[in-house]
Amino acid sequence: MKISIIGTGYVGSVTGICLAEMGHQIHFVDIDQAKLDMINSGRSPVFEPDLDDLLLKNRERITTTTDIAKAIRQTTLTIICVGTPQNPDGSSDLRFIIDAAHSLGKGLKKDQKYHTVIVKSTVLPGTTSTVVQPILEKESGKLAIKDFGIGSNPEFLKEGSAVHDFFHTDRIVIGTNDPKTKDALKALYKSLHAPFFNTDIKTAEMIKYVSNAFLATKISFANEIGNLCKLNEINSYEVFRGVGMDSRINPHFFRSGIGFGGSCFPKDIRALISFSESKGVEPRILKAVIRTNDEQPQKLIALLKKHLDIKGKKIGILGLSFKPDSDDIRESRAIPIVLTLLHEGAEIIVYDPMAMPAFKNLFPGISYARSSDDVLKSDAIMIITEWQEFSNLNYTGKLVIDGRKVNKAGREATIYEGICW
Ligand code: UGA
Repeated sequence: MKISIIGTGYVGSVTGICLAEMGHQIHFVDIDQAKLDMINSGRSPVFEPDLDDLLLKNRERITTTTDIAKAIRQTTLTIICVGTPQNPDGSSDLRFIIDAAHSLGKGLKKDQKYHTVIVKSTVLPGTTSTVVQPILEKESGKLAIKDFGIGSNPEFLKEGSAVHDFFHTDRIVIGTNDPKTKDALKALYKSLHAPFFNTDIKTAEMIKYVSNAFLATKISFANEIGNLCKLNEINSYEVFRGVGMDSRINPHFFRSGIGFGGSCFPKDIRALISFSESKGVEPRILKAVIRTNDEQPQKLIALLKKHLDIKGKKIGILGLSFKPDSDDIRESRAIPIVLTLLHEGAEIIVYDPMAMPAFKNLFPGISYARSSDDVLKSDAIMIITEWQEFSNLNYTGKLVIDGRKVNKAGREATIYEGICW
């Protein structure tokens, strides 16, 4: 199939390149020519394992343009993948979706064939039908479902394993009441061997938020229980191994620790809280999920203080990205940790295999180590991200405060505190 992908950020790049690998013809559209230039030179605009290799392998199936109308003319299906950042009050900023819909609508006007528009960006229930569709109809002078197709197809990709997740998804959610749109999406994904779940548009939009909210709830629950376990000298990892053996519960996303970060969980849960409040429903559980998550870094600091007067001491931080195999520091737990340590008068040295350039923009005044070994020379070491290489360090004789359960540190350190174990 011939597909336009609007937006070459994280979701757009991964989706487009993986669809090209499936044999589809991809037209990437972005207002940022620099990102398109990267794609044209064989480099993905976002870091994700295996993505550059797939891009190089499928180059002949990938073209780029800044002209949406041109892309629409050459394709039958458009997938909107632009970002939906957070407003200061937690609600979603739809600026990019709205801009994309206006340009798309103008393009649809000139397109003679039945073109299908799919929203993959994470948007609150109702957004596709009450924001995107009216703009498309107004700009194009056409009617949804009669003259063009419309639907929602949320993504469930995790940073760091997005290519694998794309090809091994648990389900493909198709939100549409239009039979032609449903058929187009089924044809698009037919080689994936995943079950299709067909529903209406706003239910599909809700499935995305509820999936993220449930996973984040599971993590905050694991952390609350983990804090209780810690006080009772119980290893919460053992507890959740036992609990997760119940097939009704499952063992995934029970890794207790310093909490969740990233561009999705915190933002999406705040958006769901704001959506819930706007409808007059008090989101008690969701608020508690955020609160537990916000408090978790301070628990790690409290464990450090049990062993050390922080003021004037050199504290080494291992890991800055919000998770391993990523250079992304958005909402990383390293940020509140470093802020608190600075506030308490510590000297800080940090190391991360990939995220140091981004962290330097936020914290130019702290020391950046050349290797993880340099961090080990500190008075105390705090583990914030479980990069694989931190499992190969020699922690003998060290004071280690661990937010992510690096087992080797637990075995070797002279003084070791795990946050929930
Ligand atoms: C998350 C979801 O897992 C994806 O399904 C979803 O598509 C994506 O958001 C999105 O909405 O785009 P992501 O944020 O990339 O993916 O990464 P996760 O692996 O879910 O990790 C998020 C945070 O939770 C990380 O800080 C991680 O360290 C933390 N986490 C995860 C835990 O603290 N414990 C766990 O057991 C699992």
